[in-house]
Amino acid sequence: MASKWTPDSWQAKEARHLPSYPDATALGRVTDTLTSFPPLVFAGEARALKADLAEVASGKGFLLQGGDCAESFAEFHPNNIRDTFRVLLQMAVVLTFASKQPVVKVGRMAGQFAKPRSSPVEVQGGVELPSYLGDNINGIDFTAESRIPDPQRLMQAYSQSAATLNLLRAFSTGGYANLRQVHQWTLDFMGRSPWADKFAEVSNRIGEALDFMQACGIDPQTVPQLQGTSFYTSHEALHLAYEQAMTRQDSLTGDWYDCSAHMLWIGDRTRFEGSAHVEFLRGVGNPIGFKCGPSLAPDELLRQLDVLNPAREAGRITLISRFGDDKVEAGLAPLVRAVKREGHTVVWSCDPMHGNVIKAESGYKTRPFDRILNEVRGFFAVHRAEGTHAGGIHIEMTGQDVTECMGGAVAISDSALADRYHTHCDPRLNAAQSIELAFLLADMLNQEAVDRAQRAA
Ligand code: PEP
Ligand code: CO
Repeated sequence: MASKWTPDSWQAKEARHLPSYPDATALGRVTDTLTSFPPLVFAGEARALKADLAEVASGKGFLLQGGDCAESFAEFHPNNIRDTFRVLLQMAVVLTFASKQPVVKVGRMAGQFAKPRSSPVEVQGGVELPSYLGDNINGIDFTAESRIPDPQRLMQAYSQSAATLNLLRAFSTGGYANLRQVHQWTLDFMGRSPWADKFAEVSNRIGEALDFMQACGIDPQTVPQLQGTSFYTSHEALHLAYEQAMTRQDSLTGDWYDCSAHMLWIGDRTRFEGSAHVEFLRGVGNPIGFKCGPSLAPDELLRQLDVLNPAREAGRITLISRFGDDKVEAGLAPLVRAVKREGHTVVWSCDPMHGNVIKAESGYKTRPFDRILNEVRGFFAVHRAEGTHAGGIHIEMTGQDVTECMGGAVAISDSALADRYHTHCDPRLNAAQSIELAFLLADMLNQEAVDRAQRAA
């Protein structure tokens, strides 16, 4: 039988990738303050997302999850939030049209700060310092002082998350997310894209569908649902002292929820058996993401599903595979088979970013667009072969015109990476590459829709 869970029971377990603060008392003061602050989301909203994800898990929807690798204090600006939100909506319209299914939109936003790093130290010009761990922990400047974990950063991260979430709520319900408007942005983008021909058919058909709906009297004026959309937030639940401070008991159900975001996920480096991160997340009622990388054995995954979802609630678990384009077909299939055999209902989502990082000749960390696309293709191929639903995509992207991932329609070359390489951690798809990915995904979703219709006939 599982031992009793409490918001701090993780503290007795093995925790990797947590910062060590020089002054534990100062950290305690900050987490006490955060415990007394308002939650950022409500339990009822987390349950609504779980219900949406339960639909996706049963094959009736698609999950689009995306945003920064790491949010930063420096890039905190309303225009950045707006532009990322806008690109996610544009992608969602294309994906909804292609899949003929609702798309559940979840931002890696409003709390995605803390990062697990491959090395605890960074060496530059013979000098070794502790690694940068995310703006809510220490500073990115390469100085000894900036790299010391400072608990006050958690306060700034909380405040930035609250303001970001407030703007996202306003955008999603205040008329900005109007379907016509979103399509118009996509048309504007098409006007500039060298791949416009490739995308013209889907985009024209969306336009025609909107015209037809309008002729039937279905437009944002008459149907309020078309004025807005639902939009959820998520981040990796890495900084457990912060997550614990944001955890509240729901007054309606008596259950515990981590109210720092609607959905939380466990990273590939902290999902091992017996980990503090798994212990913490098993006790909160939010929908949970679980990253599945090449080292995860099918048996271990099944044991972890029993720990994290003993009641086998649909919508509770999203398995996010991140293998690398050359490993996905061989690596994912055994996991999918094991999960199906044991009768777990999960959302399968594809993270084509984290297994495809390379070091370019220029020295920049990058991700070639072709490999990203290849991993997505492999993911769809596995699900088609296994008769399971390719349920979602998880990407690191931004609405800005950055040059971090190579390739795309306006091909970013190795030498161009230096132009606008702004990420605080891993390379992100820029606005154009993100929309291109959505159009390229449309073909695969279309195929799934055709298969579904054939099975139903
Ligand atoms: C991430 O999503 O930013 C991340 C660190 O991913 P993973 O845990 O899959 O490596
Ligand atoms: Co990342």
